[in-house]
Amino acid sequence: SVTEGFTVAIDGPAAAGKGTVSKAVAAHFGFAHLDTGLLYRAVGAKVLAGADPVDAARTLIPDDLENDSLRTPEVAQSASRVAVIAEVRAALVDFQRSFAARAGGAVLDGRDIGTVICPDAQVKLFVTASPEVRAQRRFAELSGKGIGDSYDRVLADVRARDARDMERAEAPLRPAADAHMIDTSTLTIDAAVAQAVALITKAR
Ligand code: DC
Repeated sequence: SVTEGFTVAIDGPAAAGKGTVSKAVAAHFGFAHLDTGLLYRAVGAKVLAGADPVDAARTLIPDDLENDSLRTPEVAQSASRVAVIAEVRAALVDFQRSFAARAGGAVLDGRDIGTVICPDAQVKLFVTASPEVRAQRRFAELSGKGIGDSYDRVLADVRARDARDMERAEAPLRPAADAHMIDTSTLTIDAAVAQAVALITKAR
């Protein structure tokens, strides 16, 4: 069961701001936070190193998530590719649901939290922004880390990942019917966080 704790499900496409919103919300309410993209990135990284995707997902350990090299564009694309595999997704379900059920509340962010992992979440948010705004943010973030991809290359990556995440048969990226939409295209971080906090406060 996923109804034991208070769960906030935050879904949305890459670089829409859901990570930032999730961290801020978790800090505000004292909830634990799980960035579920890290699970797929950890599997994606192992596949780039030669592992079988399903084996990698089945043998994943929490330590695998504590790796700075999971933040590269190559690992993101590999994560998006392994994420279409039903057996990979199935292997990661229990860990996510146990996390959601912990006492004291939890925030999980990803692509299918409100639709598949935690359909009974007390609050569901879908955080989105235009592809151009998301590419601009990701471009600035990568430039800051000294990764020299061009804006056009980053936009192409964002679009490729959106298409793969939304068009896959298994747990595609889409808002749950009862999700609240937060479009961050023209919002500051503080304004997006304030909207999320207000929606969660109402539901508590
Ligand atoms: O959130 P992120 O950009 O770190 O996610 C990387 C990839 O992992 C994303 O392109 C698709 C996949 N993913 C998923 O399929 N389901 C999730 N709940 C989270 C991520």
